Amino acid sequence: MVTKEDVLNLKKEKNAIILAHYYAVPEVQEGADFVGDSLGLSQKAAQTDADIILFAGVHFMAETAKILNPSKKVLIPDMSAGCSLADGCDAEELAAFMKDYPDHKILAYINCTAAVKTMADIIVTSGNALRIVNSLPVDEKIVFVPDQNLGDYINQQTGRQMVLWDGDCCVHARWSAAMVDSLKQKYPQAKVIAHPECPRDVLELSDFVGSTAAMLKHVAASENKEFVVITENGILHEMKKQNPDKIFHSADKQEACVCRSMKMNNLENIYQALKDETPELLLDEETIEKAKRPILRMLELSF
Ligand code: 13P
Ligand code: SF4
Repeated sequence: MVTKEDVLNLKKEKNAIILAHYYAVPEVQEGADFVGDSLGLSQKAAQTDADIILFAGVHFMAETAKILNPSKKVLIPDMSAGCSLADGCDAEELAAFMKDYPDHKILAYINCTAAVKTMADIIVTSGNALRIVNSLPVDEKIVFVPDQNLGDYINQQTGRQMVLWDGDCCVHARWSAAMVDSLKQKYPQAKVIAHPECPRDVLELSDFVGSTAAMLKHVAASENKEFVVITENGILHEMKKQNPDKIFHSADKQEACVCRSMKMNNLENIYQALKDETPELLLDEETIEKAKRPILRMLELSF
């Protein structure tokens, strides 16, 4: 069995950095150099001077790391770790869709493929979407891809009328108002915190809406002791670690709180990927150059 120490020793030998998303399993989060939300992870990937970036997340996150720091070797333990949002927005289909909106800018959630990023004017994450949209001219015409729930939330919060691509997260979209109501009845003292990839009626029943990093910040600052957490349950590891005195409840249904792709990362395949330096995430230079522009625009607007 591979231990955390095995991974740490090999990582040192290879001058590698391990970046993990909050949805990764606890032992992967514990073995990582940095655990974060999509924004924090892309900022770390852009800044690192390690030779190898091992990304314990999903495919689009590893692509983003390669785009931002192309001279590094980017490894992903399992190439098939996809995301329903990225998989549901094909670049050619988007090009055909945009024919109906020739004067619109493309605002793309970071959960999209590198090919879609090359077509975008600006990228956002759930951590900076409201700030970035509010910084754009009020009369700017926008097509938002690929998450209709996040797009709808941004429209609600900013008063914009962005055209929305018809895609969703196969985990967060499983939540319903009835599920939230039943958890509220079961835990009447709990505050409800939700990720903006959830449907509108779920967000309307929530006390706080934000990215994974924003949820963690909110819980740490809150005087409340009990929370219903409406997102992927990997986040509970860091939440409990930061708030040992607080109680957290998740969905009863696995499909509403477990992202199978995030759970594909484990100490065994991380060790093997570092040892063999494969599977390596590769992108052609043109894609990197074109996809980098809207991500850098996002990073400039995120500070
Ligand atoms: P965050 O950027 O909030 O971590 O979200 C990433 C994600 O994939 C949510 O499902
Ligand atoms: Fe994609 Fe949803 Fe998994 Fe996040 S939780 S990586 S949005 S499928």
